[in-house]
Amino acid sequence: MEEVFGVFGDPVEHSLSPVMHNAAISALGMKAHYHAFRVCYEGLGDALLGARAMGFGGVNLTIPLKERAFTLGFVELDSLSRVIGAVNTVDFRDGIRGFNTDGLGALRALEDASVSLRGKSVVLLGAGGAARAIAFQFASVGARVLIVNRTGERGRRLAEDVATVGVAEAFSFSSMEELLDGAHVLVNATSVGMHPLVDRTLVTGDMLHPGLVVFDIVYNPLKTRLILEAEAAGARIVTGEMMLVYQGAEAFRIWTGVLPPVDVMKRAVLDALGV
Ligand code: ATR
Repeated sequence: MEEVFGVFGDPVEHSLSPVMHNAAISALGMKAHYHAFRVCYEGLGDALLGARAMGFGGVNLTIPLKERAFTLGFVELDSLSRVIGAVNTVDFRDGIRGFNTDGLGALRALEDASVSLRGKSVVLLGAGGAARAIAFQFASVGARVLIVNRTGERGRRLAEDVATVGVAEAFSFSSMEELLDGAHVLVNATSVGMHPLVDRTLVTGDMLHPGLVVFDIVYNPLKTRLILEAEAAGARIVTGEMMLVYQGAEAFRIWTGVLPPVDVMKRAVLDALGV
């Protein structure tokens, strides 16, 4: 019988996960299919129990369910998803177990671009779910994480939480230029620059320097205004599609024990984005 995988979210129709995972499934010759399921916030508990009862292989969770999964009593959380407070991957093989692969996806996207983080200063824009995953992952491999968030209190809370595993501090936007001068990597983990507000950026080219690596987790569009300004400033750029691919690849590995072909997944994502 065909094994079922999927992504739960609301809205979920624009998710690129089905195209990406189905490309990997085909390349591996597996008898399986990955579907998108519209599941509302209140419906997550029933949907997870139903998926397990129906023998699903595993699911990803997206907006607005990542934090919701954390609050359901019956999802057994691994240590990383517990500290992050969000789950993006659920495995049904041994109960209902929650993981968060977003931070690893971001780390691998940088490794792919030959960027190592140990001892490096990373300016992280944002303190939402994606930023939390990235902050914990980067701090745990020895980066110094400098968090800048619009809502200062949220940024400070994240810095305090991350300080339990590594080095993190919160700053206000007014410190940005100074922070960037001494930084090795800038990560945009906010939604600023994402379609339809494509002309927005929190950091402009005049604040960037050629030695800096600029990584935008937004992949729609692939070349955000921040990425275009970084390119013009001579900084190294890392675009968001590889974080999507690597977080998905790690979820796939958790469900199946098999590392899927990331090149095939990347091509499927770029095709879907029309790049
Ligand atoms: P996600 O789970 O995708 O990270 P989120 O939890 O809604 O989404 O977080 C979005 C992040 O983008 C937050 O850091 C948010 O800042 P606030 O904590 O101040 O809300 C940031 N963000 C969104 N729109 C922004 C804007 N126009 N200017 C600055 N930051 C913005």
